[in-house]
Amino acid sequence: MTLDEYLDATFIHEDPLLGEIKRDIVDHAMPAIYIPIVTAATLHWLIKAFARRQALEIGALGGYSGVWLARALPSDGHLTSLELRSDYRDVALANVRRAGLADRVTFRVGPAAASLRDLEAENAQFDFFFIDADKENYPLYLDYALKLAEPGAIIAADNTLQGGHILDPDNHSKNVEAIRHFNRQVANHPHLLPLLLPIGDGLTLARYQP
Ligand SMILES: C[S@@+](CC[C@H](N)C(=O)[O-])C[C@H]1O[C@@H](n2cnc3c(N)ncnc32)[C@H](O)[C@@H]1O
Repeated sequence: MTLDEYLDATFIHEDPLLGEIKRDIVDHAMPAIYIPIVTAATLHWLIKAFARRQALEIGALGGYSGVWLARALPSDGHLTSLELRSDYRDVALANVRRAGLADRVTFRVGPAAASLRDLEAENAQFDFFFIDADKENYPLYLDYALKLAEPGAIIAADNTLQGGHILDPDNHSKNVEAIRHFNRQVANHPHLLPLLLPIGDGLTLARYQP
């Protein structure tokens, strides 16, 4: 039994719809790179436990994590989800609709850096961030998150152990170096309370305390 299977069988309880969304992603020939159940449940728990209302996700894929995040928000909360590809956004939007959450989620298509610049120009503010897109831009996404963060905001980022490669001093791949840089930025920032949870592929967390 895998950890995900154990957690699903005991107390996380991923409902059939979430399983259907994962199958839908594969049926659309999209990569099955959605977050593992333990990571999804942790993000869901954080949003609920800290009563988050305005969430920003970078990297939607087919809407799997988006449904987990949006379900944790109150009915008047909102998730803005950034996705590079319009065909992926279409799948994510269909899945969010299937989950009955269309009024709680807005997608923006295009390079996240451009969407983030737009959000900054609109003076958008968020109290929860989930970074899960191209790894090389994680440092840039952190810079934007800090510009868009309300005091007390939580910033979460997936894949921050890079399959354990982060621990190999001889690994200098672009993604590993970018994530090392990102983790250092989080760990050393004077206004961030940092943590790295060794769940899934690594989940870096920070609370913004200006
Ligand atoms: C790991 S997947 C996201 C998985 C999703 N969070 C989930 O768990 O269901 C990464 C996503 O980021 C998107 N992406 C990659 N580069 C991007 C960029 N520069 N701007 C916005 N999205 C990007 C990819 O198209 C892909 O859908």
